Amino acid sequence: MSDHTSISRRRFLGTGVAAGSAVLMASQHVRAADSPDDIRCGFIGVGGRGFGVLNAIHKSPGVRVTALCDINRSNLERAAKAVSDDKPRLFENYRELIDFKELDAVFIATPCNLHAEMGIAVLESGRHCYLEKPMAITMAELNAIYAATQKAKGIFQIGTQLRYGSPWRPAIETITSGKLGKPIMIRAYRNNAGDFPRNGWFEDPVQSGDVMLEQAVHEFDIFNAVLGGVPKRAAAFGGQAMRASKAPMHDFFTLSLDYGDKKVVGYTHSWIAVPNIGCDGFNEFVYCTNGAVDIHGGKIYHRQSKDNKEDVSPEPKGDTTQLAVDDFFRCCRSGSKPLANADSGRAAVIVGLMCRKALAEGRVVTLEEVLAEG
Ligand SMILES: NC(=O)c1ccc[n+]([C@@H]2O[C@H](COP(=O)([O-])OP(=O)(O)OC[C@H]3O[C@@H](n4cnc5c(N)ncnc54)[C@H](O)[C@@H]3O)[C@@H](O)[C@H]2O)c1
Repeated sequence: MSDHTSISRRRFLGTGVAAGSAVLMASQHVRAADSPDDIRCGFIGVGGRGFGVLNAIHKSPGVRVTALCDINRSNLERAAKAVSDDKPRLFENYRELIDFKELDAVFIATPCNLHAEMGIAVLESGRHCYLEKPMAITMAELNAIYAATQKAKGIFQIGTQLRYGSPWRPAIETITSGKLGKPIMIRAYRNNAGDFPRNGWFEDPVQSGDVMLEQAVHEFDIFNAVLGGVPKRAAAFGGQAMRASKAPMHDFFTLSLDYGDKKVVGYTHSWIAVPNIGCDGFNEFVYCTNGAVDIHGGKIYHRQSKDNKEDVSPEPKGDTTQLAVDDFFRCCRSGSKPLANADSGRAAVIVGLMCRKALAEGRVVTLEEVLAEG
């Protein structure tokens, strides 16, 4: 453990440096003076994602970063520099961060195999917890962290932030309102044009859980929100075609999900798209009895009207991560349940586990089989 209190404190409001700081004043990085009501935040894991979330929370009012933890010294120092105004304490052992008293909320953005263990430790300490997705990568871990969320005093939010912004949030609300009739089928894809991230853990399925748990849980979360609940059956085919990894990981798969009650999903996921081909990215098309929604295209199509196209609401505007963390702090203050919560996080992981098992065993797997693995 080390203490970086030597980093200079830069507060611009109400200080002599206000002159000449018009640009800084306009920036959301300008922070008000400390208040006893500030939510004191800690971070475990400040690599790519953690650093992005750290920058987002540093823009939220009434929030201070009091502690940072990472086993990678240069990532830790980069993060400390970014929030030096707050003089965070620095740790290399996450349990020491949890023992640190000046903390109300902890953000976790470490490799996926550490999520359940670290999330449980934070929840048991009584702090609010924002845990990056996936909530866990095995059924046993998922049961353990879900149980901890049910006993926790603090708020638990999971990092599936798409639910917080347009077009996903208003599109989901339109569909679940029943305005387009009953949703029947989702046709969806995600194509990545680049290589697997070479960060040392992603390409090891023991640490990442493989691509369906590390990445596709974002889409599984949308499917569950649109269709309600989790699938009853899954079938999948795929493999590794284009690249090596520490152990076999999927760089292409196709997945069929049966939610029962005539509700199905067809989804493809790949890391084989050629750069610039134009099919990079992801989308979900939702077909309902009275219309359809092209979620990314931001369009709603009505079956029975002449002028049948309508825009999905652009609200809430803004970056989905910023919206998600701002809402996390609102929930911390009000005690309300986040939109991306333990139930939605658990449901998304269950779909990932069904997908992974269906791929591994080359057959249709049922929800009951996967639940029984806990
Ligand atoms: N919600 C999203 O859109 C989104 C996007 C990207 C990544 N993620 C998730 O965020 C998490 C991190 O991904 P990343 O891309 O930032 O990876 P990364 O490798 O860039 O960062 C992970 C960080 O965790 C640190 N770490 C590893 N073990 C640790 C330990 N025991 N204690 C403290 N720190 C430790 C590493 O040193 C590193 O700095 C993953 O779970 C990933 O799935 C979410």
